[in-house]
Amino acid sequence: MDRPFHSESVSGPRPRRLVIPALSLVLLVGPSGSGKSTFAQRHFRSTEVLSSDFFRAMITDDEADQSATREAFELLHRVAEGRLRRGRLTVIDATNTRRDARLPLIELARRYHVPCVAIIFDYPLEAYLANDQQRPGRQVGRGVIERQFAQLEENRAALVEEPFQRRYWLRSPQEAASAIVVRRPLPSDRRWWRGPFDIVGDVHGCFDELVELLEHLGYQVAEQRNRSGERQYLVAHPGGRRLVFVGDLVDRGPKIVPVLQLAMSAVARGRAAAVMGNHDRKLLRYLEGHQVRIAHGFEASVEQLAVESEEFRQRVWRFLRKLPHHLVLDEGRLVVAHAGLPAEYHGRDSPVVRRIALFGMTTGEVDERGLPIRLNWALDYRGRALVVYGHTPVTEPVWINRTINIDTGCVFGHRLTALRYPELELVSVPARHAYAAPPRRLLTPDELTQPLLLPSEELAELQGEVLVEETSAAVAGSPEFERDRAPESAAQE
Ligand code: CTP
Ligand code: MG
Repeated sequence: MDRPFHSESVSGPRPRRLVIPALSLVLLVGPSGSGKSTFAQRHFRSTEVLSSDFFRAMITDDEADQSATREAFELLHRVAEGRLRRGRLTVIDATNTRRDARLPLIELARRYHVPCVAIIFDYPLEAYLANDQQRPGRQVGRGVIERQFAQLEENRAALVEEPFQRRYWLRSPQEAASAIVVRRPLPSDRRWWRGPFDIVGDVHGCFDELVELLEHLGYQVAEQRNRSGERQYLVAHPGGRRLVFVGDLVDRGPKIVPVLQLAMSAVARGRAAAVMGNHDRKLLRYLEGHQVRIAHGFEASVEQLAVESEEFRQRVWRFLRKLPHHLVLDEGRLVVAHAGLPAEYHGRDSPVVRRIALFGMTTGEVDERGLPIRLNWALDYRGRALVVYGHTPVTEPVWINRTINIDTGCVFGHRLTALRYPELELVSVPARHAYAAPPRRLLTPDELTQPLLLPSEELAELQGEVLVEETSAAVAGSPEFERDRAPESAAQE
């Protein structure tokens, strides 16, 4: 009772910065009188805020009429669903102190692949009561507030367990009043990069071919040494074009370090962007000390990085961990994802979106070598954005709907390919060697029109064994990924 809640002076602590993904579902959590509606009004557009009181009033003309609670929440959920489906930031202004109130909302965010954020108004009981006392017109009263306060107390552990991407605990009305809300675009959102671009397929350490390709595309590539004597490559295009790498910079090939040096400096200077590939992710996990299988060309990365400095490995780690899982470019007209991405996931972020962007859609089954069987998601693609991807090596890029796979298997001795955007011209250079043997042979244009991405002889062997109709449920089952914890945002502030 005597814990002072006006403890912070006005000149006191710096305002809290609440960083919120620009597309997210935000749950305000706190007893009546915590100042949720006041906070929401200050920081969000009125149409972004769905308040249970507002929906009660819509039905009964009285926001306090508890008889309308069930219908009010039905409406609130319906509107929230419509907004999330359209990719609109949504704030839920309700007490949310009970788990059964939060779970359907968390489920909604999961279904639409939108991160969920909790802002918890966690004060001493007296603070809620004092606010309630001074509220004009409507006092909720001590009994209700005490009950909701007890619920919040009981729900502390649950709030930590529930899959919020971020949680912010505001410990006093002062902290809430001075907090600043910062909307941060999702990592995939680079709509304001308008192009022109040159989108480069899976490089896998093929540095010589990369430089040759860049020169064909009109880039100037200069080699330099930085202060610590480390090599650097500076890439620039006189026409201001930018590179976009479809991922899998590393593994298998002979010159992984120079490829990283080139890509890292181009990305750092805003001359390039890169999305994460499954091989890049594996290297990231290795650098973070996770156990990974040294197979599928990973040994090349391990060996080539081992002779570099610890500082360089640190820089590689910092580069890899920042790579987005896909990119939405040119006002949403262009999407780049390592393994491609169906339209409903564009510009969204969830463990499922990340997995599909990196590993593709798979049937959940593996062949006799343990390789997952990949589904040809592009056949069903009806989205408006152009999707450029790699991951499955092909002898020739073929447009399927508005998608194109530009992984022409350079490291396996075929070609390194780029797509010029918006021109949609393909430019490619031949591989100088076959640096690795492909786990599966490169797919031909004919094979790219089949529902399973398999060489025809393997497809024939599987006849009748793989039921494509049953696969949508198994899309989740990419075993390489399932083993690991989802690479959810590390940032829990
Ligand atoms: N209040 C305030 N200063 C703030 C926040 C709130 O003076 N920084 C006051 C409001 O003016 C109001 C009372 O505290 O009189 C409760 O705030 P409100 O935003 O209505 O709280 P909610 O959490 O929205 O309460 P409810 O759950 O009942 O809607
Ligand atoms: Mg309110």
